[in-house]
Formats: sequence, C-alpha cells, structure tokens
Amino acid sequence: MKNEKYWETWSTEKLQSFQEEFIDWYEKEKRNLPWRVNLDPYRIWISEIMLQQTRVDTVIDYYYRFMEWFPTIKDLAEAPDDRLLKAWEGLGYYSRARNLKVAAQQIMTEFDGQMPQMIDEIRQLKGIGPYTAGAIGSIAFQLPEPAIDGNVMRVVSRLFEINDDIAKASSRKVFEEAMYKIIDRERPGDFNQAMMDLGSAICTPTSPKCEECPIQKYCLSYGMNTMTEYPVKSKKQKPKDVYYVGGIIENNQQEFLLEKRDAKGLLANMWLFPIEEVSKERFEFLQKSRVKEEQQLSLEFEEPLLVAEENSEIFEKYPKVVWQKRNLGEVVHIFSHLKWHILVFYGRQTGPISINDNQNWTTPEEFSNYVFPKPQQKMVELYQKELKARE
Ligand code: ADE
Repeated sequence: MKNEKYWETWSTEKLQSFQEEFIDWYEKEKRNLPWRVNLDPYRIWISEIMLQQTRVDTVIDYYYRFMEWFPTIKDLAEAPDDRLLKAWEGLGYYSRARNLKVAAQQIMTEFDGQMPQMIDEIRQLKGIGPYTAGAIGSIAFQLPEPAIDGNVMRVVSRLFEINDDIAKASSRKVFEEAMYKIIDRERPGDFNQAMMDLGSAICTPTSPKCEECPIQKYCLSYGMNTMTEYPVKSKKQKPKDVYYVGGIIENNQQEFLLEKRDAKGLLANMWLFPIEEVSKERFEFLQKSRVKEEQQLSLEFEEPLLVAEENSEIFEKYPKVVWQKRNLGEVVHIFSHLKWHILVFYGRQTGPISINDNQNWTTPEEFSNYVFPKPQQKMVELYQKELKARE
C-alpha cells in the first residue's frame, strides 16, 4: 500500500491484541541486560548513550565498569576528564562521554541532582536527542514516548510498508506518528524495548526471521512478501579518505613519543603517536617502501633514510630521528565521515628532541595510563607485530 498510513486503519481491538501479544512475547524473551535490573534513570541514560553506536555485547563490560567508576550523577559531574575518557576508551564517538559529563553538571545545577522527568526537560540535556529522551522517558518514567532509532525504523517500516527514506531527517515524523499510534500507553518502556529486541534478534536487516516473529500477522510487508524492500534508505555518502604518516619514535631509554591532540575536534585531548597528514600521492609513494613479506624483518637501519618531500612532513618535523625506510604497515580506521589511512614508520632518536606540554616520552608499560583511540591502538598492534616477527 504505497504512501498510505496503514496504522490509521487499525481498530482499537486490533491495536489492543497487537500490544498484548507483543508485550507477552517481550516478557518471555527479553534479554537479561544490566540496565534492565531496575528503573534507575541514571543507569538507563548511560546505557542508552553507550548503545547508540555500539552493539549490546560490546557495551556490557563498559557499562559495568562505568557504573563502578561513576556510580551516581554527582560522580559523573565531577569526573576527571582523563578518567572519563579512559572509561570510554575503545567505544568511539568520544563526544558522547564529554556530553555525558556536561549533562550531569546540568542535572546537578539545574535539576537539583535528579534526572528531570518531563520529556522537554530531558531533551534539554547535552547529548540527548529525541531517541534518548524517548528511551529514558519511557523506560524510567513510563512516559508514552517513542524511542526511534534505526532498528525501530526498520521494524515499523516493514510493519506498515512505510516508503519514506529513513536516511532523511524529515522522515522521522512519519515514524513518530506511527509509533504514537501503536505504543502501549500502560507500558511504553517495555514496548520500546520490545521493539529494540525484535529489531536486533528477529527483524534483522538482511534475512529477517519472520517465522519466529511475534507480530508477523500484523506485518504488512510479511503479508506482501516485501520485507527485504524495507526500510527504504538512500545511500550514505562515502567517508572522505584522509592520508597520514604516523611515526613510532623511540629514544635510547626505550620510551616512545606520544602527542596529545587539540582540545577541540576529532579525538580531542587523546594521545597518539605523532601523525601528519600527507597527500594521497605521497602516501602511495611511501607505501611502496614496504619490503616483500619473505624478506627478513628488521628494525635496523641498513636502508637509506627517508627524506621528507614537504617541510610539513613528519620526517622533516623530527630531524633528530633516524627513520627506517621500510614502513611497518598501514592502519585504516573509519570514523562516521572520515576514513583515516595511516602509514606507520619507525624511527630512533639520534639527538635531543625538545618536547612541549602536549608531548610525552612514555614506556610501553605506561601506555595504559593514557587514553588511546582505536587508530592508536592499531598502531601499537602493528609495532608489537613487528617486534614479534623480529624475535
Ligand atoms: N539498544 C538501545 N537501547 C536498548 C535497550 N534499552 N535494550 C536493548 N537494546 C538497546
């Protein structure tokens, strides 16, 4: 049924039996998850933020540790930045952690330390958009608000054959309208979580398990056998490629140079081996400096030194370093809008390198004191692999 609001055709009786059957299924099948043990709004808030871009299985361990380190909103509001980022290390999208702290401070100053209970107030908190506000409002406070994320849009688009493009922000209101119609007003939190569980376990993107679906008989696309045509989604723009040379620089005390990134922007305040952007052409030229796999790997320096092409390059920036010509390999990491390619080189200090406040010489044992984002973890792994190969 193209572009019709099929939910408007549901009778009150149909709606009621739909809700009952769906909630019954949730009661029986719901996953035991640490944020489902009670209705503490703080616990629910943290879980929803973590779950926004991260899978449930990954989130669980982070979640337990976060709750241990920051058991209350007050603890979070007062959390030292480094400790907070440490708790988030490896989860990605670090602005989520920074926003959590700002919101916790807002709650302390504007809401007397208690999570606000009205949807409009919850939405005022930093980092909380319509999805998270709906999730917290419905689960913690039983507000009849939908929590619409990609999973829920998939379920709802199939249920009603909604043809609006889920990649477009303007489509949201159609999904909201459908959800306001079908949400169980007595148990909105369970209803929303039933949607989430259905979306992740049964109503999956490529091969939905319709034979196990508790709401199969209500599902328009099941009846029409059009499940895989939904949701309608236009292609995302490809992330932009950015090329870097990364330098693993060791001094004669077996310490490595780390640099702290700016307080603003991507990976703000996080520590990495020095990296410098290069052109794609330069990157491809340097890529060729990798020796054949069968050749003996070595961190010695028989080969000619690397010479910088431009004065912004890392080989120029650290002239008191003897650079190994052969690269250690490549790190690729995709952020939502950028794809980083880092070609990693190893170099040894040969003379004094003066460092500033945002640089440190650090032993590998001390690495765990830092917050390393994924690309840095991958650079460390490359180096460790190289050391192993030399053994
Ligand atoms: N994904 C997002 N929120 C969730 C929740 N509360 N339970 C399970 N999966 C989720």
